[in-house]
Amino acid sequence: MESSSDTFGKDDSADAKLQESRVVTEEEWLQKWETNNIGFHNEQGHPLLKKYMDIFLDGRSGLKICFPLCGKTIEMKWLADMGHQVVGVEISESALKDFFTEQKLSFSEEAIPGIPGKLLKSTTGNISLYCCSIFDFSSAITGKFDAIWDRGSLVAVNPCDRKRYSQLILSLMDSRCHCLLATCLYDPSKHKGPPFYVPDSEVKHLFGKSCDITCLEKVDGLAERPKKWGLDYFWEVLYLLVLK
Ligand SMILES: C[S@@+](CC[C@H](N)C(=O)[O-])C[C@H]1O[C@@H](n2cnc3c(N)ncnc32)[C@H](O)[C@@H]1O
Repeated sequence: MESSSDTFGKDDSADAKLQESRVVTEEEWLQKWETNNIGFHNEQGHPLLKKYMDIFLDGRSGLKICFPLCGKTIEMKWLADMGHQVVGVEISESALKDFFTEQKLSFSEEAIPGIPGKLLKSTTGNISLYCCSIFDFSSAITGKFDAIWDRGSLVAVNPCDRKRYSQLILSLMDSRCHCLLATCLYDPSKHKGPPFYVPDSEVKHLFGKSCDITCLEKVDGLAERPKKWGLDYFWEVLYLLVLK
């Protein structure tokens, strides 16, 4: 790939190479859930989704909203309570069961036709959580989406699978879909990820041909967790992706 610059004007191509071959297996993710090693989970929900909710919803009601690699993110409950249809995709069954238990929602289980895994569906019918690999998921199962919340998702996908992942996300977007994408910037020579370092140039490379990309905000996220990893800066960057 050609050398490129992120919005801080720094050449990031050498930095991006540092994590190129890093692979986290599905087993390792399941292990994180088993051992409660889930520092990525935000019990209060994400402040940037709250802040940019109007842009996310774009004045529309009754949306079908996708949460790829959803974990047990409580934002799914927020959106369901606002009257939207929520669809999550997550490899860990215990994450999904924790979600329903913690949100005090009853659910039923059924097979997903054609792919390995199962669907956990709230009794109320408005939250459908697919327990399967995101790479087995497609619009053939649910149709396309009006909105996608991608936080802790692209940045959790192994760098070698990013292209495949971004193609999938694009294929899930309906023509008016608003996708909010949160990435992170830090010194990748100091932390091997996940979350993986995803510079501005990579977002453009993955989505720029198909989407108009707006950087909504860069937030200083140097909290206790990134400090523990040995980082001295950590930016969380929020983008809006809309199909051209
Ligand atoms: C960093 S966590 C983020 C969870 C959630 N988005 C959040 O913000 O709290 C990434 C999640 O992706 C899940 N995951 C990893 N690989 C996956 C795959 N191939 N398909 C579906 N889920 C996967 C992990 O189990 C984990 O819960």
